[in-house]
Amino acid sequence: MADVEGEVIEEEATDPEREARRRLALSQIRQYPDAALRLHAKPVETFDEPLQQLVSRMKVLMHDASGVGLAATQVGVVKRLFVFQLEDGDDRALVNPEIVERSDETETSDEGCLSLQGVLVPVERPVSVVITGQDESGAEVRLELEGQPARIVQHELDHLDGVLIVDRTTPEARREAMSILRPRIVLR
Ligand code: CO
Repeated sequence: MADVEGEVIEEEATDPEREARRRLALSQIRQYPDAALRLHAKPVETFDEPLQQLVSRMKVLMHDASGVGLAATQVGVVKRLFVFQLEDGDDRALVNPEIVERSDETETSDEGCLSLQGVLVPVERPVSVVITGQDESGAEVRLELEGQPARIVQHELDHLDGVLIVDRTTPEARREAMSILRPRIVLR
């Protein structure tokens, strides 16, 4: 089972200090149905210090929230960038990302999202992708990814176009996800 943006956390969070950090991080991440999650993010044109600070802050949030990816729209910043974790645990930032190649072969696997807590739905995606973009300093990046990292970057790129996992899953799973999310809407 793929664990996009970390949904195993519930079982893992035994350390109270770690759990407090996770809750604090989640409180800074926009939660469904926040309107920012539906916005189409704009290209980044300036690679300045504020951008680098944003990337650093997003990496800390991703880590504290026990996630493996976080898009700028999830922190209310309507810019085309996300951070994610490679399989070796290395945190990377991708600015103005674009998928230039997708495998014909697809795989369906469960995905979670830091903005849709408690939801885990099956999503079909290409198994491998080639993604291009820039790093936080503006240097060109081209990554050939397969498996989990390929799934993560597709999930994060979706965020930049206002697309969520509930839009990509089966009608049944979507219905179930909505029943989990709906009570939370009432309580807000
Ligand atoms: Co997400």
